[in-house]
Amino acid sequence: MSEFIPVLTKEEIATRVEEVAQAISSEYRDRDLILIGILKGAFIFLSDLVRHLSIPVQVDFMCASSYGSSTSSSGRVKLTKDVDLEIKNKDVIIVEDIVDTGITLSYLIKHLKSSGAASVRVCALIDKKERRETEVTVDYACHAVEKGFLVGYGLDYAEFYRNLPEVYHLKL
Ligand code: PRP
Repeated sequence: MSEFIPVLTKEEIATRVEEVAQAISSEYRDRDLILIGILKGAFIFLSDLVRHLSIPVQVDFMCASSYGSSTSSSGRVKLTKDVDLEIKNKDVIIVEDIVDTGITLSYLIKHLKSSGAASVRVCALIDKKERRETEVTVDYACHAVEKGFLVGYGLDYAEFYRNLPEVYHLKL
């Protein structure tokens, strides 16, 4: 039988989301900030995060899917939805639910920089370090874990459990 081991409670998530939003609000005051949520997993985190920002912000979404072996350093990423907003000379923060191997993020950072963004930083709900294959900097992380298959608060298993309000380690 599957086991759901609690990783982050609703209260812990709310506290960290608010802290990260405050840090972003103070560091991006007087700048042209665009938050870019990476679908699908980031939709809940992004929606909570933006509601705690105290500065003007534009919001957009990208969708990327990786194919090939996820444990291989040759894992490739396909962009299935690009940004709609003009990001040239704008400060951009990529919002992810989880950074795992880092392959998706590394691709997205390169893509946004080559599209002319003035700066690209990363905000992630979970920074999962054990399987990292590409060096990427997570500038704002709500929580760090070494390993484990996590679900809830946007994170899925076979598209289920994204709606859970807390984050769990799923043991199948
Ligand atoms: C997850 C997550 C990141 C990516 C991280 O997306 O949202 O985009 O994987 O993995 P990586 O660091 O190993 O590249 P997923 O492909 O599961 O799609 P989803 O967001 O629709 O759940």
